[in-house]
Formats: sequence, structure tokens, C-alpha cells
Amino acid sequence: MVGLSRRQFLAGTACAVAGGTGAFATSWTSAAQEIHLQSRETAFNFGPKPTNGLISLADNAPPPILRLKQGQPAALNYTNGLADYSTMHWHGIRLPNDMDGVPYLTQMPIAQGETFQYRFTPPDAGTYWYHPHCMTMSQMAKGLTGVLIVDEAEDQGFDADISLNLKDFRLAEDGSLLPYFTARGAARAGTFGNIRTTNWQQEPSYDVPAGGLIRLRFVVSDTTRVHKLYFPEVAGKIIAWDGHPVNEEIPWPTKDAPLWLGPGQRVDVAIVAPDQEGEELLFNSLIGTNYPFEIARLRSIGHSLSRQAGDIPTLPKNPIEAADPATSNIEETVFGWSPEGDGTNNGLCGSNGYIFWSINRNPWKGDAVANGGPVVSMALGDSYILRLRNESPNLHPIHLHGLVFKPIRSNLRHIPANYTDTVLLLKDEIIDVLVRADNPGQWAFHCHVIEHQKTGLSGFVSVG
Ligand code: C2O
Ligand code: CU
Ligand code: CU
Repeated sequence: MVGLSRRQFLAGTACAVAGGTGAFATSWTSAAQEIHLQSRETAFNFGPKPTNGLISLADNAPPPILRLKQGQPAALNYTNGLADYSTMHWHGIRLPNDMDGVPYLTQMPIAQGETFQYRFTPPDAGTYWYHPHCMTMSQMAKGLTGVLIVDEAEDQGFDADISLNLKDFRLAEDGSLLPYFTARGAARAGTFGNIRTTNWQQEPSYDVPAGGLIRLRFVVSDTTRVHKLYFPEVAGKIIAWDGHPVNEEIPWPTKDAPLWLGPGQRVDVAIVAPDQEGEELLFNSLIGTNYPFEIARLRSIGHSLSRQAGDIPTLPKNPIEAADPATSNIEETVFGWSPEGDGTNNGLCGSNGYIFWSINRNPWKGDAVANGGPVVSMALGDSYILRLRNESPNLHPIHLHGLVFKPIRSNLRHIPANYTDTVLLLKDEIIDVLVRADNPGQWAFHCHVIEHQKTGLSGFVSVG
């Protein structure tokens, strides 16, 4: 599809069957879960002064939490209400390639007033999220990121379920939006926001039933910040990582050993709320090694439900076919500085105006026509080891669309072998991940620090 004009593309797919082909095809029925979404400009008060020019799917409120049911067809009709082009991407969901929302690679950009019907059946339960993949930098920076929950086919028996969408904004004193990135930031760790929010609130407090079993879903939807989370000392357990039930246990994070969660990543945590009404629990993240800030607090309300740590369920496994650990297919991918390159592109999805980064020495001019072929070509059904090598001093949360993979070794540390779609690559780190190429198509493969993505650290893999 790469290289077609918008008109050719629309003509060519006018009679395509919704839901695509292959193992993840949706057999469309009218008994589906149907949701209408419309992007719009809006205003919101983060502090005393209003911020105008934000983007959401609701007026004066953050994008909503969307809930789908595992194994049931979903229709998400996205209408672009903005003057700029847009698309929507369902981060972490294994779906047919033509529903993946990547401009030029899987669909053409959606113009103002147009609607794209995203139709898929989520095979996996868990915590996912959504964001545009066209004008990605500006639209995400202005607020268009939301939590997407796929509920397990069977209820898991929690007394409360709270999503925490972690996102920074860059605001001036008068409440107005500051430029959403700087060239200096884009060439280094990224440009950090100065207002840290959870569900667009600063230090929100949520009431939960005393003694209840609480599921918390942390979602880092920020364009830049790597969170270092630590949790209160209560009975609790990490139950899912990047959507999928944990396979290898993840230790409960403390201030000295926080849990690093990069842009794009999610973690699901189960806790038992304190028995005493009014008692609070604080959830924090760290800047550097010792500047903590509060993400959210929970406050117990009512008579204790007297739940116990032993009541925390083991989530049912998602239907992932394991990759072959004995595979000898090893593919090298190197993330580093870009060779020469100007920042211009000929697409409709925006440019940050610079190129700083590359994958295998090739910069992809973010959200536009691909520069050459796939980073890796995989045969449908085969297993591969992708060797992810960071040649830079900066952190890169490396994300792959459409497939799940498992880290199997690192040159620097032990990484629990849990299924994921995004792995945080540290300075000088080399991580091998094992993947089964079971979903056909061209899948975006990029750093989720959006400034890196938009200045070259992006590409795609092909499965077919
Ligand atoms: Cu969440 Cu290609 O992205
Ligand atoms: Cu994604
Ligand atoms: Cu990066």
C-alpha cells in the first residue's frame, strides 16, 4: 500500500470486506459493540486558568475509557472533527492489519468530516489504549490519548476497577499550551511536560470500598515520560503487564526499586483496600532517584468488605500461541542516531521538521510514506528472535504493532518473560525478544517517545 495516493487507495479499497483476512479476521455481525467517536478541539481547566486548543473525544473532558468484551466483534467509528488529518490506533490489540490505523501503511489519513469504521474482534482481554497515528505528536500532546479496556469473557470479581491514564501537558503560566516539543529534546530524552496528570487531574483521589478488591490499570500515554512507579505496602499483586496476565512474577515495587513503565506501557495491579473507612493509600512515581510525585490516592469508604489477598484472582491466559524458543531466525535491529536526512516529508500527517534517529541506519519520516522496505520480513507462522540494540544514551520504549513478543534476555539485567507489545530499552542495552509472526500484514515498529518516532526512529516489519 505504500506509495499510493489517497485517491487511489480509497478507490482500491472501496469494496474491501470489513475486518480483513487471516487468523484475526472478524466475522461481522450486527450484534456488535458499536461506539461512535468524534475528535474535537476543546478547553479544560488544569489549574485556575483554562487551556484552549486541547483535543479530546468529549467536550471539556478527557477522552473516555472505552470498554470492549473479549471475543466479541467491535465497531469503533472514528469521525475526524479536526482541521488536520488524523487516524486512530488501538495500541496493543492484535487485529487485522487494515484496522491498525497507521497512515499510508494500513490506511489513508482521515480528512476533516470523514469517518473511518474500525472493526475487529479483540482476541485478548486486558488493558490497552488508543491514540492517533497521524499528526501523532500534536494530537497526543494536546490530549488525544485514552484507555481501552477489553474485559475478560468471565467477570474476575473485583469490587472496583480504576484506570489511571498518566499524561503530562506543557503549559505556560497563563494556562496556554507551550510548543509540544523542542529540537533539543527530540535529539535527546524527549521534551517533558510540566503538568503531570492522571485522567487529566493533578493528584486525584478515588473512593473505593473499604476492604474491597481493587484493580488498578496504569497506562503511560505520555509522549515522553518514563514513569518509575512504587506502590504502598499493602496486600497486593501485579496481575498483568502490557495487557497480558503475568507469566513470570513481577516484584512489588518500592521506592528503592521502582517499576519502570515507559510511554505506551501498562501495568494492572490488584490490591486489597484498607479496612478502616477514611484510610488512604498513595501511589507515586519518581523523577530521578528521589523526587517522588503523587499519581493518585485511594480512600476507603463504608464498612469493610473484608476481602483477602488470597481473593486476588489469577487472570485467565490470553489465547497466544507460543513462539518456538529453539528458532534460529535472528534479526538485528539497531536504534541509533540518524545518518544525514532533512526533516521534510510529503505526507499529510505532519513533520517535526528534523531527522535525528534511525532504525538500522534508516530514518523513517514519521507518519508518512515509508522510506524503503520493511526493517524485518517474517514468514507467516514462523518464530523469530528480534535483537533490539540501543546504540544511543537515551531510553527507547520500542513498540511493535499487531504481534506480541516476550523478552528472553538482556545484556544488562533480568527482564521477567511476560508477553508485551512495548519494551523499554535502556542505555547500551541489547534485548532479545521472541515473537511468533502469526498476524499477516505490515506492522509499524517504532519508539514510543513520539519525538523520536517523528524524527526517524520508526519503521515497519512485514509478516506474510
Ligand atoms: Cu501506541 Cu504505533 O503506537
Ligand atoms: Cu501500537
Ligand atoms: Cu526513543
